[in-house]
Formats: sequence, structure tokens, C-alpha cells
Amino acid sequence: MSALSSTPFDGTHNGGTSDNGSNDTLFESIAQGLQTQGYAITQAALPLTLTAGLLLRVSQLPEYQFAVAGTGRQQEHQLNGFVRRDKIRWLNDEHPAEQAWLDFMGDLQRYMNRRLFLGLFSYECHFAHYQPGDFYRKHMDAFRGQSNRVLTTVLYLNPDWETQDGGELVMYRDDDHNEELLRLVPRFGTLVTFLSEEFPHEVLPARRDRYSIAGWFRLNASTNHRADPPR
Ligand code: OGA
Ligand code: MN
Repeated sequence: MSALSSTPFDGTHNGGTSDNGSNDTLFESIAQGLQTQGYAITQAALPLTLTAGLLLRVSQLPEYQFAVAGTGRQQEHQLNGFVRRDKIRWLNDEHPAEQAWLDFMGDLQRYMNRRLFLGLFSYECHFAHYQPGDFYRKHMDAFRGQSNRVLTTVLYLNPDWETQDGGELVMYRDDDHNEELLRLVPRFGTLVTFLSEEFPHEVLPARRDRYSIAGWFRLNASTNHRADPPR
């Protein structure tokens, strides 16, 4: 059943970090969004030191570290400039800002597993750079029964982004791929989280350089015959 069968509302939560440094208020608003509608949008809710560090990091990464993105995993990996044009670089734990993001998502993972029993096992994420004209056509991040990606996260790193700069994330209803559910401006500090198998979505052509971190929580798909280590 689609998580969207509940009454729609604008879906925006303003989370926030409490004085004692706990992110539970933010995590709880994400959990509630996922539970009631399958997605959650939080604006300016993340610790500023975290997002500012990531913006600094992505702006200092040399362009050669970004690779043309593919569609599908491993064997199905294909370079397809018709579907997507962004360039990506996977995060790792060798830089403090990237490590801080991975730690933060680890906290979110533990919270979601306790709160919603999602059984999230690992998290993988990449910076994405869309140059002017770049887009990502309507797609699913995961297909039921074919993938172990269950939860998508996208954090936007674009200060002063205006509507005329394009590059909106458009999400569609699961049961009608043509009915637009929401359009999200990729403003600095906005985090969108959604069930990977539920929502077709696309990135409209950007008119400025557009930076984000796209990530996926996965289940463990290990069997007796095939190990499924985290990335
Ligand atoms: C993706 C994706 C959305 C965005 O990388 O799979 O859909 O807004 N990104 O960047
Ligand atoms: Mn996607």
C-alpha cells in the first residue's frame, strides 16, 4: 500500500536541534513524515556547523574527483546522458566534514530502526554536481523486490537559490506517475527523506551550479551464497 493514501498536506516540518545538542526533535519529525505520508522535508533544521562544513568541503573538491553518474548498480551500471547529467563523488570517512555527515546519518539510521523498525543496515551517499543545463529525468531509486535501497535522503547545499535558478526536485505520486506531488527548491540546508520504492521523481534542469548530497539507506541482502557488504 502506498504511504500516500493518507491525507496529503504540504509535508514541511521544521525540525531543529535542541540546546543539548540532541537531534531527536529533527529525527522524530522525519519519522512522523515517513509514517504518515512516506516522505519528510525539513528546512534549516540541521546543525549549521554540519551543513556549512559540507558546503565548504564540496566547494573545495576539485572537479576531477567528480565522475559521470550511472543509472542502476553494478552490472546494470550504464552511463546514460539522456537520463541524467550530474557528476558525482562518493563520500568517505577520510575528511572530517564527510565523516560528520556519515556519523549524523548513522544517528538517523539508529533512530529510524528503533522508531519504525526499518532494519536499515548501511548508508551510502555521494555529492552531486549539476552544471547549468544538467537534469535527472523521472526515475525510481529502487524497485520493489529488486533492490535493497529503502530510504532516500537528499541534502541541498545551495545558498541563495532562487526559483528562477531551476533545478527543482519534482516528486510524483506512486499510483499515478503523472500527478505531481510536490516541487522542492534545492535551498541550502533543506533535507528531503522519502521511501525509495514509493516515489517517482526527477530533477529539472538547473540554471546554476547545483550541489547536493544524495544518499540511500539499505537493507542487508546477504544470503548464504552472496555476501552483501556495505559500500
Ligand atoms: C538522485 C536524485 C534528487 C535531487 O540522485 O537519485 O534523485 O534533488 N536526486 O538531487
Ligand atoms: Mn533519485
